[in-house]
Amino acid sequence: MKIAVIGTGYVGLVAGVCFADAGHHVLCVDRDASKIASLKEGRIPIYEPGLEDLLHQSRARLEFTTDTAAAVRAAKVVFVAVGTPEKADGSADMAPTMAVVEAICTAANEKKYIVLKSTVPVGTAKIVKARVAELTKHPMEIVSNPEFLKEGAAIDDFLRPDRVVIGCATQDAEDVMRELYDPFVKNGNPILFMDNASAEMTKYAANAFLSVKISFINELALLADELGADINQVRKGFTSDKRINPAFFHPGVGFGGSCFPKDVKALVHTGRAAGVPMAVVQAADEANDRQKLVLYDRIEKHFKGDLKGRTIAVWGLAFKPRTDDVREAPALYIIEKLVRAGATVRAYDPVAMETARVASSVKYEEAATALDCVKGADALAIVTEWNEFRSPDLEQLKTLLKQPVVFDGRNVLDPVKASKVGFTYYCIGRQAVGQVSDQTGRKEKV
Ligand SMILES: NC(=O)c1ccc[n+]([C@@H]2O[C@H](COP(=O)([O-])OP(=O)(O)OC[C@H]3O[C@@H](n4cnc5c(N)ncnc54)[C@H](O)[C@@H]3O)[C@@H](O)[C@H]2O)c1
Repeated sequence: MKIAVIGTGYVGLVAGVCFADAGHHVLCVDRDASKIASLKEGRIPIYEPGLEDLLHQSRARLEFTTDTAAAVRAAKVVFVAVGTPEKADGSADMAPTMAVVEAICTAANEKKYIVLKSTVPVGTAKIVKARVAELTKHPMEIVSNPEFLKEGAAIDDFLRPDRVVIGCATQDAEDVMRELYDPFVKNGNPILFMDNASAEMTKYAANAFLSVKISFINELALLADELGADINQVRKGFTSDKRINPAFFHPGVGFGGSCFPKDVKALVHTGRAAGVPMAVVQAADEANDRQKLVLYDRIEKHFKGDLKGRTIAVWGLAFKPRTDDVREAPALYIIEKLVRAGATVRAYDPVAMETARVASSVKYEEAATALDCVKGADALAIVTEWNEFRSPDLEQLKTLLKQPVVFDGRNVLDPVKASKVGFTYYCIGRQAVGQVSDQTGRKEKV
């Protein structure tokens, strides 16, 4: 089938490449000419494991262009995968999506299947349908097909999704979408067909629920810190209940990225507009705002409020490992606070150095390696749980740091080992500095 994907970002590019891998001819469209130029040369503008290899394998079935109209005319199915960023009032900015819908209608020469892949507020398909009817005489199908891929594992998620959600109103649209997605659900996972509004809401429900899980465990971890409990033991205990899925229950420095923060705010806004408060989701969002600064607060407290002249090494800038995406990354919030408090920050990330440099509101030093980053620093803050940060040589780390102090925002180090080497070690919800739990969870002094 001939497909156009408009918006060649984290979602659109992955979708386009994966559909091409499945044998379809895909026109990837973006208004960013430099992005399209580098894609034409076989260079991908983002870091996503496996994407470049798959792109090369499917190159014969992929075209990259800035010409939306030509792509729309050539394609039967047109995916819309542009951004839906947060507006000042928390609602999703639908201007990019509506601009693309209008461009599709202007260019269309026959019936098209317009597939809304971006995360769009409930009711968008209805609005799009009405707008399309104003703009073109061609019979258009409006399909809602939210995307659930995770950056860092996007290829696997797209090729082997837990489920595919399709909102549409006709058998014709259902047949076309089934044909497109059948190759990806050979493992027996479902393609769930439903009405458009339910499909749109499913995406927000998923992201909101995951955000609630994170904020829930983060708040519990803070309480565990105060009360001397160990959140790992607590997690094991309460997630042994079959009704509670243990995945995604790891405390840290809060959620970031291009999806959860804005989608949570958008759902709260939608609820408010509908007169149905999304109080649980709003609380998760507020807890996350506090959590993003927990590590900073601990650093400030450790240095008794005096950060002037201190150098803090920061490991990790991306909002999570295996991506270069720094949108809403907790690291950027922490760094901004540190710099504004007078500290010098030296940061290292395996892939997100460039994206962070562009996104940061403050200047900080950059290190070429994780070890260079800590040399002569007063403390180390671990903010993203990249694998390479999980097992550092602690003795070497101690000799490189000016003071053996670690603020582990992702609980990647072993508190017992860190304490035994002589580190003052802070983590999230495990045990107070200088205390470790034995296998049974009992506390003992080290
Ligand atoms: N990033 C994720 O992990 C993820 C996961 C699931 C869903 N989503 C949703 O998918 C959507 C896209 O997210 P993303 O992260 O890929 O965004 P992105 O910012 O990485 O990419 C969007 C792309 O659209 C292009 N674009 C904007 N307007 C355009 C236009 N008029 N014509 C052509 N191109 C245009 C931009 O240049 C950009 O390259 C959002 O709604 C997001 O919430 C994202």
